[in-house]
Formats: sequence, structure tokens, C-alpha cells
Amino acid sequence: MKSDEEEQLRSVALQNAREILAARQRAEQLLLQTKEQLERTTKQLAQSLALTRAALESAPDGIVVTNAAGVITDFNRKYLELWALDDVESRDHHQLLRRISRHFADPEAFLRRIDEIYRSPDPEVTDMLALADGRIFERVSKIQSVDGVDVGRVWSFRDITERVTTQRELNEILEQKVAERTAALQRSEQRFEQLINGIRDCAIYMLDPSGHIVSWNPGAERIKGYTAAEIIGRHFSTFYTEEDRAGGAPARALQVATREGKFEAEVWRVRKDGTAFWANVLIDPIHAEDGTLVGFAKITRDMTERRAMQEQLNQSQKMEAIGHLTGGVAHDFNNLLTVILGNLETIGRHILPDQARVLRALDQANRGAQRAATLTQQLLAFSRRQPLNPKPTDLNRLVSELSELVRRTLHEDIALETVLGGGLWRVDIDANQLESAVLNLVVNARDAMKEGGKLTIETANSYLDRHYASKYSEIAPGQYVLICVTDTGCGMSKEVLSHAFDPFFTTKGIGEGTGLGLSQVFGFVKQSGGHIKLYSEVGEGTTVKIYLPRVHGEVCIEDSESSVPDAKGHPSETILVVEDDDDVRIYSTEALRDLGFTVLEAHDGASALRVLELHPEVMLLFTDVGLPSINGRQLADEARRRWPQLRVLFTSGYARNAIVHQGRLDPGVELLTKPFTRTELAGRIRDVLDAKRAV
Ligand SMILES: Nc1ncnc2c1ncn2[C@@H]1O[C@H](COP(=O)(O)OP(=O)(O)OP(=O)(O)O)[C@@H](O)[C@H]1O
Ligand SMILES: [Mg+2]
Repeated sequence: MKSDEEEQLRSVALQNAREILAARQRAEQLLLQTKEQLERTTKQLAQSLALTRAALESAPDGIVVTNAAGVITDFNRKYLELWALDDVESRDHHQLLRRISRHFADPEAFLRRIDEIYRSPDPEVTDMLALADGRIFERVSKIQSVDGVDVGRVWSFRDITERVTTQRELNEILEQKVAERTAALQRSEQRFEQLINGIRDCAIYMLDPSGHIVSWNPGAERIKGYTAAEIIGRHFSTFYTEEDRAGGAPARALQVATREGKFEAEVWRVRKDGTAFWANVLIDPIHAEDGTLVGFAKITRDMTERRAMQEQLNQSQKMEAIGHLTGGVAHDFNNLLTVILGNLETIGRHILPDQARVLRALDQANRGAQRAATLTQQLLAFSRRQPLNPKPTDLNRLVSELSELVRRTLHEDIALETVLGGGLWRVDIDANQLESAVLNLVVNARDAMKEGGKLTIETANSYLDRHYASKYSEIAPGQYVLICVTDTGCGMSKEVLSHAFDPFFTTKGIGEGTGLGLSQVFGFVKQSGGHIKLYSEVGEGTTVKIYLPRVHGEVCIEDSESSVPDAKGHPSETILVVEDDDDVRIYSTEALRDLGFTVLEAHDGASALRVLELHPEVMLLFTDVGLPSINGRQLADEARRRWPQLRVLFTSGYARNAIVHQGRLDPGVELLTKPFTRTELAGRIRDVLDAKRAV
């Protein structure tokens, strides 16, 4: 039994020993495995650490790492380099900070900021450090946490001096550029303003899209009369006439400008004082870059004066044209009337006294022809082609001598006043024509004062300045003598005024006026180098001003020549009559033969010269001025050159430039104007033949 128990015990023990052995083997194996594992892990860790260091070293920034207790756990070479350190020496961060704080102008401020960062709960703080040597570092401090627990901080530093200076330089350049641009802009704005403000002839202003005024230049103030303070904010329709406003013209103008890109017109506009002016208006829409309408630019020019000048010019061109026409007609009429009057005279001389009926008829025919001659003369005067005989004249004397006649012309209920200017300059004028012009005006004044009134005739020295002269195409600035006839009569409407000088324009009844009075005055004044102006308003009377150019130099007053009545000729006196109009030539030659002269005739200049060659006994050449090819003046010049003793008498329907320069006779030239009567012809021929030859 005992041995069984022993056996059993032994086998259990054996069993246990085996198990223990096996367990030990397993444990040894496990240990081996663990050791290998550890070795592998350690190796990996070492590799990873080496990589981390390499990464740390290769970073461009200086880096220092501190743990939660403020002990430096790591740093790289760049860090030492940036702060000019050989080594960190101590691992105490604060100690190190004190060492690097010497790089700052204010080390304490640097240290205070570090304390702030340590205390800050922000996971990341970035700031810039300005070093005393001028370098600039960017510092980033980042909290490092593992499983939510702060384990320390990574401090990284980067030298951004270059970046900042470049940035700064760029900023400076940029700022300078901006400043330059601003200055240039200001300058250009200033120039623009000066330009707009300097323009005084144009109103330049701006409207907002609804037509309210937003800017105003001095030109606008000058033309329209409003100051900027008065008008800015008001609507531009203020400048329109009542009718234009009522008709919606302002809105239409803006619509046209918007639709067509421009509105332009010449129209009446109204100034602040209520007066109207003729305006040239331009409206341009202004658009923003995106195309929206931001307002309108308005330019207005005052064209009132220019319009008046244009009207003046049209008027004088019209007068010029009518003048040409009238002159031509009158010229032909003169020839016809010379024939008619001359032949009537011849008939008269051959009528027997008992032929009473024929005598009456002759008398009427004569009067009719005389009236026609007067009319023709007036037409010639209007067309500025009547021969004038100007002499230096004292207008005061002329007016004084005329006043008796004037008084007789007026009714008793018209008072006459003459106001004669002192120290009056002289004028070079045909006094007879001037008298008839003044009488014409007096008669007009009388007719305008049916209910009585006052007539004033004034004389004065006057200066027409450049400004005044520039308004009229035909007048030169300078010194003039003014003669001025004023009445208190019915006056003239604008319409009548604009036609008053037209030939045959009259408002008088048939048979009362020919409408040639003012035409004649107009033509005469113009031909004399003067200027005439009418001032009149309905119910306010009329003033007619005649300006005659002042004459300088010696004044010699000649006696007027006298014709010898019933002058006769002698057969020994030979006269050559040169006239292209057959009827006139026949009339003249017959009349001269009747008077007793020996008469030769020619129809043009060339044949006249041939006649003179054959007949050296010719004493007087009586020639028409308007001959074909060689004119009368050329004929006379040539004849006098060859026969210096030859005397010359010209005849003409109107004064051609050949003998009459600027409407005035050349000195020493004799002229008999058509139509002429037998008696006038005889008288002038005698005058010329009997005159002492000028030396
Ligand atoms: N002083 C005046 N006051 C008012 N109207 C005038 C005056 N002078 C001229 N007129 C107007 O001008 C018109 C033309 O004048 P103008 O002297 O040329 O002719 P007329 O007087 O009508 O005729 P005429 O002079 O040939 O007898 C006149 O019919 C008249 O209507
Ligand atoms: Mg008249």
C-alpha cells in the first residue's frame, strides 16, 4: 500500500515537474519574443527620433521647444543662429530669454510679452518682433497637447526683415504713386474748374437726370443773371419761356438728348430779369461707365447780338439787291424821259398859239413826264447812283436856313424845336440833297402827328465806336456829325420798321405817299459814306438819326454855279455829240442845232475819235458816260490827250464810277445829269464853252 501511494505521489510529482518545465519553456520563449519586440521598437523609435531631429534641423525657422515646466526640451541650430548663440547653455527657458532680450531696445517689454503668452489660453499666438539691429522676426508660439493635456510649447522664429522691407518699399512706392495720381487729379480738376469758370461767353452747367441744376459757371451767371446760390437745385425749365414750358419743351429736350445723344437748338430763353435772349442751346447726356444716365451737360450761348447782326446783314443785302434793280430801271427811264421831255419841248416851240387844246395836252404831258423824272431821280438816289456834288458844309447853318421852310411845312399844332450842337464839325455833303432828305423826314414826322405834337431837329458831334460799327457791315468806326429828327407821332410797328427803307413801301393811302421818301434818304446817306438808323415804337414817336462822316482840313465854300438862261450858240462853235442811244442822240443834236451850234455826232468812242481827227475844229465833246467798249471817260481822256484844247461835258443817267468815284464827281469834271431839258443843255454847254480854262 505504501508503495502504491508512493508510486502515485511520484507520478504526480513527475507530472508537475513536466508541466513546470513546459511552463518555463513557454515563459522563456515569451521573454525572447518580447525582447525581440522591444529591440525592434527601440530601433524604430531611434529612427523616428533621428527623422524628427533632421526635420527640426531642416526647418527654415528657428525652433525651440519647452515643456509644461518651462524647461527647454529641444531646439535647432537655426534658432541659435537667429539669436547669435553658441548654445542654449542652460535648459531654463527664462534664463535663455533674459540672454536674448539684449537684442531689443526695450528688453523688459520683450520679457513681459513672453509672460503674457505663457498665460494666454490661445493655442497659437503670432507676433512680430522688431530687433534693435533692424531685423524683424515673426514669432509663432503654439501649445502642444497630448490627449488634451498641455505638454509644452513650440516657439518658432522667422527672419522676415527682407519681406517686410520689400513690402514697406512697395507700400511707399504705392503711396507715392497714389499721392502723385491724387495731385495730378487735383491739378486737372483745378484746371478744369479754371477752364469752366474762365469761360464767360458760355453758360456751362450740369443737370441731374431729372433736370435739376447741380453746377453753375460764371458764364451762366453772366448770361442768365442768377448766382449759383440762387439757381442750384432749381429745375432748368426756369429758363424757358412761359409758352415753351406749357408746351412741355424742357422734358422733350431731355428726351431727345437721351435718345439721340444730343439736343441742339436756337431758341428764345428768359433771363432772371425777365428779358428774353436768343440762345444756342446744347444738351449732352452724361453716362456712368455701366451705362446708367447720371445727368446732362448744358452749354448755352447768347446769340442775341449775332442774330441782330445777321438780320442787319440780310437787310443791307436786300437793300443792295433792290438798289441794283432800281438803278438799272432808273437808268433806262432817264434815257426815255430825256427823249420825251426834249421832244415835248420841241413840240411846244412849234405849236401855234390858237391850238389851245393841244397846248393843254402838251402841258399835261410835260407835267407827267416831270413827275416821272422826279421819281426816277428818287430811285437813283435810293440806288446810290445819283451824282452828288459834295462840299464842306456846316450842318448848323443848313438846319437854321431850312427851319423857316420846315415851319411852313408843319401844321400849327406841331411845335418845332431845333437844338444845334456847339463846335460842330464839318461834313462833306451835297447840301441840296441833304436839305431834301431832312424835308422828307419832316414830312414823314408831320404825317405821323395828325393830332399835333412836337418835332425836334438836333445836331451833335458823335463818335461811332468799334463796338457799334461792328454791328453794321457797312460802317467804319470814327467821328461823325449827327443830325437827328424826332417826332412825338404814332410811331412804327416792328413790321413797318423793317420795311421803311424799301422803295415803294408806304402805309399811306393811294396818292398820299409814293414810299420813296425814306428810300431816297437811305440811298443818299449811304452814298455819302454815312449811316442812318430808325428808332421807333408804336405810340412812342420816332427818331431818325443820320450820321455823316466828319471832314478834316480846309473848308472852302464855293458859290454855286449859275446856268445862263436862254443861252444860244454860234455856227462857228462845233460840238461833237457822242451817244449810243439813238433817240437821245437825235434829241440832243437837234436841240443844239436849234440853238445855233454846228453839231457832229457819233454813236460810240471809236467813231468819235475818227470824227475828231477829220474835224479839228470841234470845240466841245458832249458825251454819254455809259458807252459800249470805250466808255465816255476813256474817250474824253484820249481826246484831251490828243487835242488838249478840247472841252468836255459828260452826261449820264447815273453816276458811273468812270466819272464818279464813291459817288462823288472828280474835280474839274462837268456833268449834266439825265433827263435834261433843252434849256439845261444850252446852259451847261455855254458854261463849259465860256469857262476860263483852268491852268
Ligand atoms: N416819322 C414817322 N413816323 C411813323 N411812321 C413813319 C415815319 N416815317 C416813315 N414812316 C413809315 O414808313 C413808311 C415809308 O416812309 P417813306 O417816307 O419812305 O414813304 P411815305 O412817307 O409813305 O411816302 P413818300 O415819302 O414817298 O411820300 C411810311 O408810309 C410810314 O408808314
Ligand atoms: Mg415820306
